[in-house]
Amino acid sequence: MKIVFLGKPGSGKGTYAEMLSKELNIPTIVTGDLLREEIKKKTELGKEAEEIIKKGGYIDDKRIISMIKKAVIGKEGYILDGFPRTLGQAEEFKEKIDIVFYLNCSDKTIMRRLINRRICSKCGKVYNLVTNPPKKEGICDECCSKLVKRIDETKDAVEQRLKIYAEETEPLIQYYKKKGNLVEINGDRNIDIVYDEIKNFLKNKA
Ligand code: AP5
Ligand code: MG
Repeated sequence: MKIVFLGKPGSGKGTYAEMLSKELNIPTIVTGDLLREEIKKKTELGKEAEEIIKKGGYIDDKRIISMIKKAVIGKEGYILDGFPRTLGQAEEFKEKIDIVFYLNCSDKTIMRRLINRRICSKCGKVYNLVTNPPKKEGICDECCSKLVKRIDETKDAVEQRLKIYAEETEPLIQYYKKKGNLVEINGDRNIDIVYDEIKNFLKNKA
């Protein structure tokens, strides 16, 4: 099964991709995390990506496609979180996608969610101080590492991420609608309700 999560920054792509990955026992490929790894390692791509991500821009299609093609080698099934993000990326990626879950969220909830988000500095698990807090303040439930904020969570960066999403990524909704594999989910509701809808869809499809 090849699944894509599509949606605005903060719509919950990472949250549901991780839950589903455990349930279906298939890996997630998170382009944002792959880039953050490059930043940590201070590679050439990482240095370039750091500047772009901080400002809320997109890394160019060529680099993303070559990164993702390497990441899917040898994998029969996977969940893609954050890819494709442009029409160019979707067209260049030749693998057949079974389902695209489009998490439709209003702009109103996005800012609030991102301001309260914390991620594990080691394993990347996503928390929210209001809606999905860790058991122990500032510490990851899974690996006990420190929780941190992301570099692209300033007001300016979030605004820019929403702008570029509208310009570059929103056209993918029509693209996958036409292909017939888009499943639209109202992402404004609480995590359990949204996740149940995703699971029920998959159950009915099987
Ligand atoms: P990426 O890391 O993918 O960032 P993003 O798309 O902006 O999305 P986020 O990770 O911020 O949000 P999310 O949808 O995963 O939401 P989450 O589950 O965390 O990419 C980062 C950057 O890398 C990009 O800006 C770009 O520069 C670059 N990049 C990556 N891929 C690229 C590509 N293909 N091409 C070019 N550049 C690329 O949820 C958010 C918060 O809300 C959490 O705190 C969560 O707990 C909470 N929450 C989630 N759902 C709910 C709910 N239903 N109710 C209440 N709270 C909720
Ligand atoms: Mg994410």
